[in-house]
Amino acid sequence: MSATRKTGLVTGAGSGIGRAAALEFARGGAAVAVLDIDELAAAETVELIGKDGGEALPVTVDIADEDSVKAAIERTVAVYGGLDFAVNNAGMASHNRQLDEMTLAEFERVLSVNLSGTFLCMKYELPLLKGGGAIVNVASNGGLYSIPHAPAYVASKHGVVGLTKVAAVDYAPDGIRVNAVCPGPTRTPAFDQVAGDTDMIARQEAITPLGRLATPEEAAAAVVWLCSDAAAYVTGIAMSVDGGRRA
Ligand SMILES: NC(=O)c1ccc[n+]([C@@H]2O[C@H](COP(=O)([O-])OP(=O)(O)OC[C@H]3O[C@@H](n4cnc5c(N)ncnc54)[C@H](O)[C@@H]3O)[C@@H](O)[C@H]2O)c1
Repeated sequence: MSATRKTGLVTGAGSGIGRAAALEFARGGAAVAVLDIDELAAAETVELIGKDGGEALPVTVDIADEDSVKAAIERTVAVYGGLDFAVNNAGMASHNRQLDEMTLAEFERVLSVNLSGTFLCMKYELPLLKGGGAIVNVASNGGLYSIPHAPAYVASKHGVVGLTKVAAVDYAPDGIRVNAVCPGPTRTPAFDQVAGDTDMIARQEAITPLGRLATPEEAAAAVVWLCSDAAAYVTGIAMSVDGGRRA
Protein backbone atom coordinates (compact mmCIF):
# COMPACT_ATOMS: atom_id res chain seq x y z
CA MET A 1 0.00 0.00 0.00
CA SER A 2 1.15 3.60 -0.39
CA ALA A 3 2.30 5.65 2.57
CA THR A 4 -1.02 7.50 2.80
CA ARG A 5 -3.54 5.68 4.96
CA LYS A 6 -6.08 3.82 2.88
CA THR A 7 -9.34 2.24 3.92
CA GLY A 8 -10.97 -0.79 2.41
CA LEU A 9 -12.83 -4.02 2.92
CA VAL A 10 -12.21 -7.70 2.33
CA THR A 11 -15.10 -10.17 2.14
CA GLY A 12 -14.54 -13.68 3.44
CA ALA A 13 -11.71 -12.25 5.56
CA GLY A 14 -12.44 -14.66 8.40
CA SER A 15 -10.33 -17.40 6.82
CA GLY A 16 -7.81 -18.40 4.17
CA ILE A 17 -6.93 -16.01 1.37
CA GLY A 18 -9.22 -13.25 2.66
CA ARG A 19 -7.68 -13.33 6.14
CA ALA A 20 -4.16 -13.30 4.68
CA ALA A 21 -5.09 -10.30 2.50
CA ALA A 22 -6.66 -8.39 5.40
CA LEU A 23 -3.52 -8.98 7.51
CA GLU A 24 -1.27 -7.80 4.69
CA PHE A 25 -3.33 -4.66 4.00
CA ALA A 26 -3.20 -3.79 7.70
CA ARG A 27 0.57 -4.38 7.83
CA GLY A 28 0.84 -1.86 4.99
CA GLY A 29 -0.97 0.74 7.09
CA ALA A 30 -4.50 0.38 5.74
CA ALA A 31 -7.62 0.30 7.90
CA VAL A 32 -9.52 -2.84 6.90
CA ALA A 33 -13.13 -3.89 7.34
CA VAL A 34 -13.20 -7.67 7.83
CA LEU A 35 -16.46 -8.90 6.31
CA ASP A 36 -17.58 -12.48 6.84
CA ILE A 37 -20.73 -14.52 7.36
CA ASP A 38 -18.94 -16.15 10.31
CA GLU A 39 -18.95 -13.53 13.06
CA LEU A 40 -16.45 -15.40 15.22
CA ALA A 41 -14.02 -15.89 12.35
CA ALA A 42 -14.17 -12.16 11.49
CA ALA A 43 -13.52 -11.29 15.14
CA GLU A 44 -10.47 -13.61 15.15
CA THR A 45 -9.01 -11.88 12.10
CA VAL A 46 -9.56 -8.48 13.71
CA GLU A 47 -7.79 -9.74 16.83
CA LEU A 48 -4.83 -10.98 14.77
CA ILE A 49 -4.60 -7.60 13.03
CA GLY A 50 -4.79 -5.82 16.38
CA LYS A 51 -1.96 -7.97 17.79
CA ASP A 52 0.06 -6.95 14.72
CA GLY A 53 -0.54 -3.28 15.54
CA GLY A 54 -3.07 -2.75 12.75
CA GLU A 55 -6.55 -1.27 12.46
CA ALA A 56 -9.58 -3.42 11.55
CA LEU A 57 -13.33 -3.56 11.94
CA PRO A 58 -15.39 -6.79 12.06
CA VAL A 59 -18.58 -6.71 9.97
CA THR A 60 -20.99 -9.62 9.58
CA VAL A 61 -22.37 -10.09 6.07
CA ASP A 62 -24.00 -12.69 3.88
CA ILE A 63 -22.87 -11.68 0.40
CA ALA A 64 -25.79 -13.61 -1.14
CA ASP A 65 -28.27 -11.26 0.58
CA GLU A 66 -28.65 -7.77 -0.91
CA ASP A 67 -29.83 -6.04 2.28
CA SER A 68 -26.97 -7.59 4.23
CA VAL A 69 -24.38 -6.44 1.65
CA LYS A 70 -25.79 -2.92 1.57
CA ALA A 71 -25.78 -2.68 5.37
CA ALA A 72 -22.23 -4.07 5.69
CA ILE A 73 -20.79 -1.64 3.17
CA GLU A 74 -22.70 1.27 4.72
CA ARG A 75 -21.31 0.30 8.12
CA THR A 76 -17.76 0.20 6.74
CA VAL A 77 -18.08 3.65 5.20
CA ALA A 78 -19.80 5.06 8.30
CA VAL A 79 -16.81 4.02 10.41
CA TYR A 80 -13.97 4.67 7.98
CA GLY A 81 -15.44 7.57 6.03
CA GLY A 82 -14.78 6.13 2.58
CA LEU A 83 -13.48 3.27 0.53
CA ASP A 84 -10.17 3.13 -1.35
CA PHE A 85 -10.17 -0.58 -2.11
CA ALA A 86 -12.57 -3.53 -1.95
CA VAL A 87 -11.67 -7.21 -2.23
CA ASN A 88 -14.53 -9.53 -3.10
CA ASN A 89 -13.10 -12.82 -1.96
CA ALA A 90 -15.89 -14.70 -0.14
CA GLY A 91 -16.96 -17.79 -1.99
CA MET A 92 -17.93 -21.42 -1.68
CA ALA A 93 -16.77 -24.63 -3.27
CA SER A 94 -19.10 -26.64 -5.46
CA HIS A 95 -20.53 -30.12 -5.11
CA ASN A 96 -18.38 -32.71 -6.80
CA ARG A 97 -20.85 -33.74 -9.51
CA GLN A 98 -21.29 -33.88 -13.25
CA LEU A 99 -23.83 -31.45 -14.64
CA ASP A 100 -26.65 -33.94 -15.21
CA GLU A 101 -26.37 -35.17 -11.62
CA MET A 102 -26.64 -31.66 -10.15
CA THR A 103 -29.97 -30.23 -9.05
CA LEU A 104 -30.99 -26.72 -10.08
CA ALA A 105 -31.03 -25.74 -6.40
CA GLU A 106 -27.40 -26.87 -5.95
CA PHE A 107 -26.34 -25.02 -9.09
CA GLU A 108 -28.17 -21.83 -8.11
CA ARG A 109 -26.79 -21.83 -4.55
CA VAL A 110 -23.20 -21.74 -5.81
CA LEU A 111 -24.08 -19.05 -8.36
CA SER A 112 -25.90 -16.97 -5.73
CA VAL A 113 -22.85 -16.82 -3.44
CA ASN A 114 -19.94 -16.75 -5.90
CA LEU A 115 -21.42 -14.76 -8.77
CA SER A 116 -24.48 -12.83 -7.54
CA GLY A 117 -22.66 -12.21 -4.24
CA THR A 118 -19.74 -10.64 -6.10
CA PHE A 119 -22.17 -8.65 -8.24
CA LEU A 120 -23.96 -7.31 -5.14
CA CYS A 121 -20.72 -6.30 -3.46
CA MET A 122 -19.53 -4.50 -6.60
CA LYS A 123 -22.92 -2.80 -7.01
CA TYR A 124 -22.64 -1.16 -3.59
CA GLU A 125 -18.87 -0.59 -3.63
CA LEU A 126 -18.47 1.08 -7.00
CA PRO A 127 -20.43 4.27 -6.20
CA LEU A 128 -18.39 4.71 -3.01
CA LEU A 129 -14.93 4.21 -4.49
CA LYS A 130 -13.04 7.37 -5.20
CA GLY A 131 -10.88 8.02 -8.27
CA GLY A 132 -7.72 6.00 -7.72
CA GLY A 133 -9.77 3.29 -6.01
CA ALA A 134 -9.55 -0.39 -6.85
CA ILE A 135 -11.60 -3.55 -6.72
CA VAL A 136 -10.11 -7.03 -6.76
CA ASN A 137 -12.40 -10.02 -7.22
CA VAL A 138 -11.03 -13.38 -6.17
CA ALA A 139 -12.03 -15.78 -8.94
CA SER A 140 -10.07 -19.02 -9.48
CA ASN A 141 -8.15 -20.83 -12.17
CA GLY A 142 -11.63 -22.35 -12.55
CA GLY A 143 -12.56 -18.89 -13.88
CA LEU A 144 -10.21 -19.45 -16.81
CA TYR A 145 -10.08 -23.21 -17.36
CA SER A 146 -12.11 -26.34 -16.68
CA ILE A 147 -12.21 -28.19 -13.37
CA PRO A 148 -13.76 -31.65 -13.76
CA HIS A 149 -17.00 -32.24 -11.86
CA ALA A 150 -17.36 -28.58 -10.82
CA PRO A 151 -19.85 -27.09 -13.33
CA ALA A 152 -21.42 -24.61 -10.90
CA TYR A 153 -18.11 -23.44 -9.45
CA VAL A 154 -16.48 -23.05 -12.87
CA ALA A 155 -19.52 -21.25 -14.31
CA SER A 156 -19.62 -18.91 -11.30
CA LYS A 157 -15.92 -18.09 -11.47
CA HIS A 158 -15.98 -17.53 -15.25
CA GLY A 159 -18.85 -15.14 -14.45
CA VAL A 160 -16.71 -13.31 -11.88
CA VAL A 161 -13.98 -12.83 -14.48
CA GLY A 162 -16.62 -11.51 -16.90
CA LEU A 163 -18.01 -9.02 -14.36
CA THR A 164 -14.45 -7.86 -13.69
CA LYS A 165 -13.71 -7.19 -17.35
CA VAL A 166 -16.93 -5.24 -17.97
CA ALA A 167 -16.61 -3.13 -14.82
CA ALA A 168 -12.96 -2.36 -15.62
CA VAL A 169 -14.02 -0.73 -18.89
CA ASP A 170 -17.18 0.94 -17.56
CA TYR A 171 -15.48 2.53 -14.52
CA ALA A 172 -12.08 3.37 -16.04
CA PRO A 173 -13.29 6.91 -16.83
CA ASP A 174 -13.93 7.35 -13.09
CA GLY A 175 -10.36 6.33 -12.28
CA ILE A 176 -11.47 3.06 -10.69
CA ARG A 177 -9.53 -0.10 -11.50
CA VAL A 178 -11.14 -3.55 -11.40
CA ASN A 179 -9.10 -6.75 -11.58
CA ALA A 180 -9.43 -10.43 -10.70
CA VAL A 181 -7.00 -12.82 -9.07
CA CYS A 182 -7.28 -16.43 -10.17
CA PRO A 183 -5.61 -18.70 -7.62
CA GLY A 184 -4.86 -22.31 -8.30
CA PRO A 185 -5.27 -24.79 -5.44
CA THR A 186 -4.20 -22.96 -2.28
CA ARG A 187 -3.52 -24.52 1.14
CA THR A 188 -6.26 -22.75 3.08
CA PRO A 189 -7.92 -24.49 6.05
CA ALA A 190 -10.99 -25.05 3.84
CA PHE A 191 -8.89 -26.67 1.11
CA ASP A 192 -7.08 -28.93 3.56
CA GLN A 193 -10.41 -30.01 5.04
CA VAL A 194 -11.74 -31.00 1.61
CA ALA A 195 -8.50 -32.83 0.82
CA GLY A 196 -8.71 -34.72 4.13
CA ASP A 197 -6.49 -37.77 4.14
CA THR A 198 -6.90 -38.41 0.41
CA ASP A 199 -4.01 -38.11 -2.05
CA MET A 200 -5.59 -34.94 -3.51
CA ILE A 201 -2.74 -32.64 -2.44
CA ALA A 202 -0.07 -34.92 -3.93
CA ARG A 203 -2.09 -35.22 -7.17
CA GLN A 204 -2.49 -31.45 -7.43
CA GLU A 205 1.21 -30.89 -6.72
CA ALA A 206 2.13 -33.38 -9.42
CA ILE A 207 0.29 -31.38 -12.10
CA THR A 208 1.60 -27.98 -10.94
CA PRO A 209 4.79 -26.87 -12.74
CA LEU A 210 6.21 -25.23 -9.59
CA GLY A 211 5.66 -28.57 -7.83
CA ARG A 212 3.70 -27.33 -4.83
CA LEU A 213 0.44 -25.59 -3.97
CA ALA A 214 0.13 -21.91 -3.06
CA THR A 215 0.00 -20.54 0.44
CA PRO A 216 -2.87 -18.13 1.28
CA GLU A 217 -0.22 -15.40 1.64
CA GLU A 218 0.98 -15.93 -1.94
CA ALA A 219 -2.54 -15.46 -3.34
CA ALA A 220 -3.08 -12.49 -1.00
CA ALA A 221 0.12 -10.82 -2.20
CA ALA A 222 -1.34 -10.53 -5.71
CA VAL A 223 -4.58 -9.11 -4.29
CA VAL A 224 -2.76 -6.46 -2.27
CA TRP A 225 -0.49 -5.52 -5.16
CA LEU A 226 -3.44 -5.07 -7.54
CA CYS A 227 -5.06 -2.72 -4.99
CA SER A 228 -1.88 -0.71 -4.54
CA ASP A 229 -0.69 2.33 -6.44
CA ALA A 230 2.10 0.17 -7.87
CA ALA A 231 -0.62 -1.34 -10.12
CA ALA A 232 -1.99 2.08 -11.14
CA TYR A 233 -1.92 1.18 -14.87
CA VAL A 234 -3.38 -2.32 -14.49
CA THR A 235 -7.08 -2.89 -14.98
CA GLY A 236 -9.35 -5.58 -16.41
CA ILE A 237 -6.92 -8.45 -15.93
CA ALA A 238 -7.47 -11.92 -14.50
CA MET A 239 -4.12 -12.64 -12.84
CA SER A 240 -3.24 -16.31 -12.42
CA VAL A 241 -1.49 -17.24 -9.19
CA ASP A 242 -1.31 -20.94 -9.89
CA GLY A 243 2.28 -22.13 -10.00
CA GLY A 244 2.25 -22.18 -13.79
CA ARG A 245 -0.79 -24.38 -14.35
CA ARG A 246 -2.83 -23.80 -17.45
CA ALA A 247 -5.64 -26.23 -16.72
N1 LIG B 1 -8.29 -22.33 -1.60
C1 LIG B 1 -8.26 -22.57 -2.88
O1 LIG B 1 -7.70 -23.57 -3.32
C2 LIG B 1 -8.87 -21.61 -3.86
C3 LIG B 1 -8.53 -21.72 -5.22
C4 LIG B 1 -9.09 -20.85 -6.12
C5 LIG B 1 -9.98 -19.88 -5.71
N2 LIG B 1 -10.31 -19.79 -4.39
C6 LIG B 1 -11.27 -18.75 -4.02
O2 LIG B 1 -10.70 -17.92 -3.05
C7 LIG B 1 -11.72 -17.42 -2.19
C8 LIG B 1 -11.34 -17.70 -0.75
O3 LIG B 1 -11.17 -19.09 -0.60
P1 LIG B 1 -10.49 -19.76 0.67
O4 LIG B 1 -9.92 -21.05 0.25
O5 LIG B 1 -9.67 -18.76 1.39
O6 LIG B 1 -11.83 -20.14 1.48
P2 LIG B 1 -12.15 -20.23 3.02
O7 LIG B 1 -13.31 -21.15 3.10
O8 LIG B 1 -10.91 -20.50 3.83
O9 LIG B 1 -12.66 -18.74 3.34
C9 LIG B 1 -13.82 -18.25 2.78
C10 LIG B 1 -14.46 -17.31 3.78
O10 LIG B 1 -15.66 -16.80 3.16
C11 LIG B 1 -16.69 -16.82 4.11
N3 LIG B 1 -17.98 -16.92 3.43
C12 LIG B 1 -18.52 -18.00 2.81
N4 LIG B 1 -19.73 -17.71 2.34
C13 LIG B 1 -19.97 -16.41 2.65
C14 LIG B 1 -21.07 -15.56 2.43
N5 LIG B 1 -22.19 -15.98 1.82
N6 LIG B 1 -21.00 -14.28 2.87
C15 LIG B 1 -19.88 -13.85 3.51
N7 LIG B 1 -18.81 -14.62 3.77
C16 LIG B 1 -18.86 -15.90 3.34
C17 LIG B 1 -16.42 -18.02 5.00
O11 LIG B 1 -17.05 -17.90 6.27
C18 LIG B 1 -14.89 -18.00 5.07
O12 LIG B 1 -14.43 -17.28 6.19
C19 LIG B 1 -13.02 -18.10 -2.63
O13 LIG B 1 -13.74 -17.23 -3.47
C20 LIG B 1 -12.53 -19.31 -3.39
O14 LIG B 1 -13.44 -19.74 -4.37
C21 LIG B 1 -9.78 -20.63 -3.45
